[in-house]
Order: sequence, then C-alpha cells, then structure tokens
Amino acid sequence: MSNPGDFAHEVKHQADIVRIIGDYVTLKKAGTQNFSGLCPFHEEKSPSFSVHVTRQFYHCFGCGVSGDVFSFVQKIENISFPEAVRAVALKLGITPPKQQFSPGEASEARERTAVMEMHERTCKFFEENLRKPEGARARQYLNERGITDDVIHQFRIGYSPDSGFQLRDHLKAGYAEDLLRTSGLFSWKEGSAPAASEAGAAAMYSKFRNRIMFPIFSEAGRVIAFGGRTLETGERAGPKYLNSPETPIYSKGRVLYNMDKAREAIRKLGYAILVEGYFDCISVYTAGFHNVIASSGTAFSEPQVKLLGRFSKKIVVNFDPDNAGAKAAERSLAMLVSEDFEIRVITLQAGLDPDLFLRKNGKSAYEKELLSAPNYFAYLIERTRAHFPVRTTEGKVQALNFLLPYVQKLPSRVARDEVAAEMSQKLGIDSAVLRQEIRHAATTRTATLKPANDPTITQAERIVVQALATPLTGTSKHDLDPRRQMQIKLRAEPLYEGLPTESLMLALLEAEDDSDSWDPMTLPLSDADRTHLARILMESEELTTGLLHESIEALRRGHLERKRRDLKFRISEAERKNDKAGLELLLIEKQAVDKSLSSL
Ligand code: UTP
Ligand code: MN
Repeated sequence: MSNPGDFAHEVKHQADIVRIIGDYVTLKKAGTQNFSGLCPFHEEKSPSFSVHVTRQFYHCFGCGVSGDVFSFVQKIENISFPEAVRAVALKLGITPPKQQFSPGEASEARERTAVMEMHERTCKFFEENLRKPEGARARQYLNERGITDDVIHQFRIGYSPDSGFQLRDHLKAGYAEDLLRTSGLFSWKEGSAPAASEAGAAAMYSKFRNRIMFPIFSEAGRVIAFGGRTLETGERAGPKYLNSPETPIYSKGRVLYNMDKAREAIRKLGYAILVEGYFDCISVYTAGFHNVIASSGTAFSEPQVKLLGRFSKKIVVNFDPDNAGAKAAERSLAMLVSEDFEIRVITLQAGLDPDLFLRKNGKSAYEKELLSAPNYFAYLIERTRAHFPVRTTEGKVQALNFLLPYVQKLPSRVARDEVAAEMSQKLGIDSAVLRQEIRHAATTRTATLKPANDPTITQAERIVVQALATPLTGTSKHDLDPRRQMQIKLRAEPLYEGLPTESLMLALLEAEDDSDSWDPMTLPLSDADRTHLARILMESEELTTGLLHESIEALRRGHLERKRRDLKFRISEAERKNDKAGLELLLIEKQAVDKSLSSL
C-alpha cells in the first residue's frame, strides 16, 4: 500500500494517528505509548479501542478491527485507499501532487467524480421538471399524499419526464457516451454497441420515465443514486419502484436511505427507527422523528448493519404489516439479532404502513406506538402464542421449534438466558429443559472470536514477540537489532514450540522485512494472533539487551521444562512396556535436560 518514496508513505510519516483519529473518537491517554477510547466501529460502553503512538496503529479489542491511519479513515469515511490518503494529506495541510494515483486509480477517481457530478445535475434536472407544466400530475400526486413544497425541497424530490431522451440530451454535451452508460441512469436497446458515435448515444434513453424521483444521498449528503416511483397505471407501469443499479459511486448494500439526515438524531436519541419505504421514511421524518432510515424494501446487508451500528445499536423496526417484503424484513431482523442489536418492533393496525398511519392518526399516536413497542423476542413469543396451541405439548414443541432459530442467533449467553426465562414463563415450558435446548442450539452457531487477554502468555513471551515485531533501524540492519537477535536465537533453538504464541512467533520469525515501512500488523495472521500481537505492542516495554537476554533464558527454561515433562511421560511408558533399549536412551536424554536446567 504505502511504499517508501511514494506520496502515501510520506503522508503516513507526517501524520500523527492519534490526532487524526482524535477527530472522530475521544481518546484518553492509557499508557506511556497508547490512548484508548470507545470504538467507532461497534457499540460499546467501556473503551476497548486503542491507538499506539509510536507504532501508529489502532486496534479494537472488542471487535478486532485494526490498521493504520489510512485504513481508519477509509473505514470511517467509507472511501477508497487513494481517497483516504488524500483526506489525511489535506488534514495535515499537505497538497497532494497531481499525479498521486496510479494511472488506473486516477482514471477510476476521475470516473467517480464525473458520475457524481452527473448525478447532481440529474437531480437538479428532475427537481426542475417537477416544477414544469409536465410535472403537474406528479405535483398533484405528491400533494395528495401530503408532501408539501418544503418537504419536496428538503428531500430534493423530482420528476422524470415521460420522454426518455430529455435527460440524455440534457447531459450528452458534458459526458462521453461510456460514462453515460456507467452512470446507471440510462438504458439502451440491445445490439447498440457502445460506439463513440451519435447513433450510440441516440439509442440510449433514461431508465426513469414518468416517475417520482427520490435521490439517494451518501452519508455526506451527495446524490449517488435514485429510486423512482411510477405514476403509470396498467400495462405500461413496470415495477412500482425502480432503483439505480450498482455503479462506481453506489453500492446498494452499503447505503441506507436518509442516513445523511438521520445520523445526528440517531446518535443523540440513542436509537434508530427503521421503515421500508421512501414515503414512510419521509413521513416519519417530517412528523418530527428525525432518527428514521429506510431499508428500501430489500434485506439488510452486513455492511448496512455495520454502518448503522456506528451510530447506535438500538433500533425500532416498523415494517409494513403484510407486504411482499416480509421475507426481506425477516432476514434483516435475523441479521440485526446476530449483530447484537437491541430490537423493538412496532406493529401498526392491519393494513397501515407508517405513512398511512401518520396521516390517519397523527404524530402523538405514532409516538405512543414507538414508546410501547415490545422487544423483538416478546413480539415473536406473542406470535407463536397466536399461531400454535401452546397449551398442548405438541403446540409447545411447535412453538419451541419456531423460536429456536431466532434464539440461536443471539450472540450473548446472558441475552439467551433472558429469552429462555421469558419463553418458559409465557409458553409454560419447563425452564431447565428450555435452557438445555437453547444451549444445545447455541453451540451450533458459528463461533465468534472473542479476543481475550490470554493469561497463559508469559512476560518473556511478550518481550520476544515485541522484539520480533520491531522494525529494523534502517541504517544498521546488523545483529544488534532486537529482531535480528531474536531471529538468530530462535532459528538455532525452537524455543517457541508448544507456546500459545508459537504460530505468531513463527509468522514473525519468517516474515520478509526488507522494506523500510515493514509493518507486522499487516502480516496475514489469524484473528487470535493479530489480537495477541496488538495487545503486546500496546503494552510494549523498552527493549534493553539485558531484558532480551533474560527473556530468552526464561523461554529456554520453559522449553526444557516442557521437554522434561514429555520425557518423564515417555519413560513411564517405556517402563510399562518393558522396553529396555528405549528406556536407556530416554534416561540419557533426561539426564542431559536435567543438567541444562540446573545450569540455568
Ligand atoms: P412498498 O410497496 O411498501 O412501497 O415498498 P411504499 O414505499 O409504501 O410506496 P407507496 O406508499 O405504496 O407509494 C417499500 C419499499 O420497497 C422498495 C422501495 O424502496 C419502496 O419504498 N420497492 C418496492 C422496490 O424497490 N421495488 C418495488 O417494485 C417495490
Ligand atoms: Mn408501503
């Protein structure tokens, strides 16, 4: 990623990761070389997010994310590596050189910029069209649905004209044909090859025709896609809603509708309201509940859940009672459960989506629903009571089978036990039996790795790992570097054998380190090893020759003791089998080990 001599490398050198991360996270000094704070990538109450001052990396002991200053900015801003380099450079007041990207990256960045600009222009075009005479039907429609001019303005709602050529003609002068094609705004007849010709562009027409247009904004509030509701009825209508495809600036699974406007409110109120439709979202927002976002009718993807989790892990879900999206809603909920969200569910009276409900019953009625929304599991238990005859044994079994897959997804044991208690009470199932069932079900879920501060790792091991992970001092790649010293010792004697850090030490030992920007945290390590390494580096010591010597001696003693235990076991085996020759060899070997141990 960043190599000596290139711009990224220079920026990284000048950047203070603590200050950059400090713009996003409140950091407190936690040791001589590290700061800690609440992790911005998952919800937590006590800080497990650490930043190392001299090593210039961060690691979260709660969720396991780690990386350097660029990876942090990339993650938190949801941008690419070159964009992160640029963002950090600008924060430092360094002007990025014109040719800072590789040719491929440069053309990608240019393309994104152009497509972004095209979306802004298109949004304006749709907005203007709504005001024109041909937008009269659309205006009337919005009006009938209670959308005022203020709301139209705020959400930048527009109208796409019936003719597919107007948008094309509007944009054609500014953009090359292939760019128009990648924008996702157009369709074209099959067989019209993308030739840079008049004919090529002429065969293209707007994907969105005679539709109410909802621009979809990035978190930063820029137009990156559209959703359009048809005004057509009958044969010509096509799908009720048409959405932008994946483009260089839009990935459906990474964006939540209205996140740009809702983010502050979600943080402040401590929870989000999730609805399905654009109209629902806008109605709920306009009624004064600013913490609302929409899933746009498809199931939540993991990045969307992670994105939301950065703002809050509490959510009130308000889906349509019975619509085609029910399956998607179920999958979204399953995803939220397994990501440890605290979920409550609103069920509005039959047939009403949030939009209709608000218009019919008003704000305070909605607020009542919001406040009294039951917890997701309470809601599920109620549903089973309605569906199965839970007074009978057979009914209980059915209810249990229905509920177990949900309970199984709960990552925390405490939460599972709570649900078990509630289930046993409400369904009349014996609580011991239930807990047994749940525990069994829970063991089959995929284990999530919880990084632990492993008490079995000795201080000596920590020192040796730290030494192995210390970059060479550049000028003098000689034997006195801690890393070189340890390599020599450990290549001569496999003192790491049988240690909890064995795999980590081996990876560090043989890692290529000839670059000046060698960073052990970027090695391909297992999650457990990366966590061990991060913790060791966070609590690193000053490496003196004396300390290194002592640590190696301690490892050697441990190694010999393990060997001795092993020999003792094999000796007793040989005695049992009456294997005289074997026994003799083993005794000689043990004598040597004993001698080495006493000479330490
Ligand atoms: P709904 O059918 O509930 O639409 O789909 P709605 O928002 O309530 O619209 P109105 O009130 O009937 O006009 C919910 C959401 O699912 C997505 C849209 O994002 C919509 O807002 N959807 C629906 C599609 O993407 N395509 C479709 O064909 C239908
Ligand atoms: Mn609806």
